[in-house]
This record gives sequence, C-alpha cells and structure tokens, in this order.
Amino acid sequence: MPGRGVAWRNGEHGSTNVQSGRGPARSRHPRSARAIPITTEEPNLNASAQLAAAVVPAAGRGERLGPGAPKALRELGGVPLLVHAVRALARSRAVGLVVVCAPPDGVAEVVSLLDSHGLDGKDVRVVPGGASRQESVRLGLAAVPAGTRVVLVHDAARPLVPVEVVDAVAAAVRAGAEAVVPAVPLADTVKRVEPQPSGPEPVLDTPDRSTLRAVQTPQGFDLPALVAAHGKALAEGAEVTDDAGLIERFGGRVVVVPGHEEAFKVTRPLDLVLAEAVLARRRATDGY
Ligand code: CTP
Ligand code: MG
Repeated sequence: MPGRGVAWRNGEHGSTNVQSGRGPARSRHPRSARAIPITTEEPNLNASAQLAAAVVPAAGRGERLGPGAPKALRELGGVPLLVHAVRALARSRAVGLVVVCAPPDGVAEVVSLLDSHGLDGKDVRVVPGGASRQESVRLGLAAVPAGTRVVLVHDAARPLVPVEVVDAVAAAVRAGAEAVVPAVPLADTVKRVEPQPSGPEPVLDTPDRSTLRAVQTPQGFDLPALVAAHGKALAEGAEVTDDAGLIERFGGRVVVVPGHEEAFKVTRPLDLVLAEAVLARRRATDGY
C-alpha cells in the first residue's frame, strides 16, 4: 500500500479532514508535505475491524525532562521520540491506524513532522490532545472509527518498545481479554510511606515484591470497553495514571503480559542517555 498522508482534525467529533498531506512513498523521503484535496467524507481508514487502532498520547510538556521542546518532539538519534513511537507501532502487522494526540498548539508541526518521515504506509491521524494524559487519550479515542475492536494506547514517551510487545498485547485482546497491560518485575524493593513535605518519611509497610509489576505501554483494550470507561471517568471526574486503571476502577478485568526492558518511558534526562545507548546498540547490531 502506498504511503498515505497524515490527516488532522480539529474537534472531538469533527468528521472533516481539515488538512491533509500525502506522505512519501517508502522509497522516497521528500521533506515537505504536499496538499491533497480536502474531503468531507469520513474516510474508512481502518477497513478491517480485525486491525487494531493505536492511540498515541503525545501532548505532554515533558516537565521532568527539563527545558526544551515538548517531550514527544525531542530527538533521539536525530529522530523525534514521537516518530520512533509511531514507527514502533506501524511495524506491527496487527496495527492499521495510528491516532496521534499532539500538543494542542503543535498540531500542524506534528502533521508535517510525521509526513516527512516514512511510516510504513500506515494511516496516521493527528488530533489535538488535552490538558491531562487521560483527556488526550479520550480525544484520541474519538478519532478511532466505530467498528474497530482492538485499540492500543501507547505513550509517545516510550520510543523503543519492541514490536513483539505490540503484537503480544494486540493478540491477547483479540483472544478475548478486555484489557491487557505489558509489565515487568521490579528490580528495587518498594516501601509504602507516609509522605512528608520534608524530612524523613515513616515507612508503613513493604509490599511483597514478587506480586508487583511495573506497567508499560502499549496497553490493549476492547474499544467499546475503553470508550465507556473514559466516558464514566469524565462524568465522575475520576483521574487515573493509566488506561487500565480506568477499566479496574469500573469493575473490569485487566491482565498482564510480559513487557520488555526496552519499553521504558523517557521521563528524566538520564532516560534519554539510556535510550541513546539502546538505539546505538540496535543500529550497530540490527541495522535498525
Ligand atoms: N501526555 C499527553 N497529554 C498530556 C500529558 C501527557 O498526551 N496532557 C502524554 C505524554 O506526551 C507522554 C505520555 O502522555 O507521551 C506519558 O506522560 P509523561 O511521561 O508524564 O509525559 P509528560 O506529561 O510530557 O512529562 P512530564 O509529566 O514530565 O511533564
Ligand atoms: Mg506527565
């Protein structure tokens, strides 16, 4: 399939592609987007309901990474984190559509950025994100075509997730799970404390580490279940830090599958150093 352009839309329920660009064929990589005719029809971008749609929240500022561009646009090996993350999803044959939730003031920039990188011929849409990760995901879900069964939610800040993790999560949802989370065991012992504004914090207890997992993305869901959970959370003002948390909160069942150490989230400056090292190793050994 030839590379499709990156489309963006303006509102939660907009049905119009207000601007599109045609992406490069895979063999060519022109640096600029070309306009293609505006359409007022809902394009059937995810023709097969068997294919998963991926929503990529990328609207955060990256405060903990320090001053600079929004985190998703910061570079790793000369390529923005967001492009790495979208490519990681596009590499999966299970994924047919990627919806990127861009910084609200950076939609046009993200469209042209994605258009200037080859994306394996996948359909990519860009929507404005929101003030919280949860809101960004909700806005992204609104751009996923009804009829899609499997949706993956993947942080732009996890640029190096291996395709095997993406495939495994999608397969577990297709096999019937309502919500699937990739996770890894913890290296450190964890203590629950009574937080203090300053000074030593009293320890409450030490959870059994063997029962704890650090969760990653992409998290996979039955689309109607996730949309319903986000709707209830909006109505109740509930805020959680991951999408599976919403499913849990409303009584749904979440299962964990093995994640991968390279699916770590770039949060602080040291994470970027580690990501550069992982990428350099991949480029040296796999021609990545
Ligand atoms: N995110 C988003 N919309 C927001 C906030 C976060 O789409 N309003 C996205 C981020 O872009 C990131 C993912 O959610 O890809 C995970 O969030 P996090 O790692 O916390 O990123 P930031 O919020 O950008 O970083 P920080 O909390 O340090 O500001
Ligand atoms: Mg954040």
